[in-house]
Amino acid sequence: MSVREMRRFRRDPLGYIEDRARRSPAEVFRLPWGAWCVRDTEPALTVLHDPVFHGGMSTFFGDMLPSRAAQLTLGRAVRNLVRTHSPAYRQRLAEAAAGLGPVSRWPQAGPTLVYRCTADVLLHPDAPPELRRRLAQAVTAGLTARQPGMRERARAEVLRPRLLAAITEHVRDRRAEGPGASEPRDVLDAVIGACPAELPDGTVANLYVLLFQSIVGNIGYAVAWALLLAGVHHPSGPPWPWPADGLVREAGRCRPFVWMVGRPVPHALEFGGLPFAAGTILSVSPYLLHHDPHRWDRPELFRPDRWSEPGGQGPYLPFSAGPFTCAGAAVAHTFITDAVAALAQDARLTISGGDTRPLISGSVLPRPFTVHRTLKTPVRPAPTQGDEGR
Ligand code: HEM
Repeated sequence: MSVREMRRFRRDPLGYIEDRARRSPAEVFRLPWGAWCVRDTEPALTVLHDPVFHGGMSTFFGDMLPSRAAQLTLGRAVRNLVRTHSPAYRQRLAEAAAGLGPVSRWPQAGPTLVYRCTADVLLHPDAPPELRRRLAQAVTAGLTARQPGMRERARAEVLRPRLLAAITEHVRDRRAEGPGASEPRDVLDAVIGACPAELPDGTVANLYVLLFQSIVGNIGYAVAWALLLAGVHHPSGPPWPWPADGLVREAGRCRPFVWMVGRPVPHALEFGGLPFAAGTILSVSPYLLHHDPHRWDRPELFRPDRWSEPGGQGPYLPFSAGPFTCAGAAVAHTFITDAVAALAQDARLTISGGDTRPLISGSVLPRPFTVHRTLKTPVRPAPTQGDEGR
């Protein structure tokens, strides 16, 4: 990619991809980093659903697990555990939202908020305090997503080896203790219980960190996007004219946190009229599909109301689709919606510095913005005659 093109991509990555798709003469076009992207909705959905692209393993876990069955077992175990934590998560939200204070810096406040509500399910309260401290530190430093700026990335990544070493040591201890309670006490128990016994402790630790990032980072940044888009499109703040569910869905449509998913081509084949060698990555962009004017009415508009209109929705894949779809999709959607609703509840909430163009560094991250949030004073009934002096 030329320096000029790289600058254009950095300034407005989503606009850049849309422009490339519009100008492409073929159904599949080349991405700046060498992979290929499927332009049109129908063939893109074929890539996500066709068994030909799903005979192997999901790239989400890399090569850490030995089989697709082991991947599915692990994903479901963690999802089920997190789901059982939903009532506790909801209970903690009000306090965690208050803990952000009247002025909070986003998007970082998103993962912080989610972490405060999930800390005990990530590592149970009797886990070594030093390990819990390291996990909290990783959240503060931004290790919950690949950071876009070099300096922030370096600041976050410097913590990774020490965090992994500490988790690996703890995995060794828990495995040596043998299975304790029949139910997992936290996500680490769920990961250990679902991993094959012969998997090295370090790999188990890496899998744990991957899921920790999915829970705290993905959910936290999705909360940030929903707040930002609500604040920009309804500057006077809550009560918003839309239900939280529609707002969160529309934010996930306009700014899908995972903006590209890839499938390796399993053997030489032709797709969209072009030949592809085995191993080439065919990507699908949820962002492009969410903006297909043939499938969405005025897709360029942020309009949460479309979610309550019959037939108002086109292909929607913030959590991907098909055999490798996100195992935690339903619980993640609920957690995002609950967090957005809790932040808006009885509060004056406005944003400043909001710019809806994303920063892209693997995922679609919001640019920094500030949230001003104060609780509305509870309205007391005016004293009636005879009440005075009581
Ligand atoms: C906003 C929150 C989240 C987003 C946007 C998200 C997005 C995604 C996407 C797009 C994929 C599929 C990638 C592909 O098609 O190749 C994926 C996979 C996965 N996600 Fe999520 N995720 C989120 C939260 C979670 C949570 C909370 C969990 C666990 C409780 C989770 C667990 C997984 C697992 C296990 C997979 C791999 C599925 C498989 O290969 O079988 N995710 N996620």
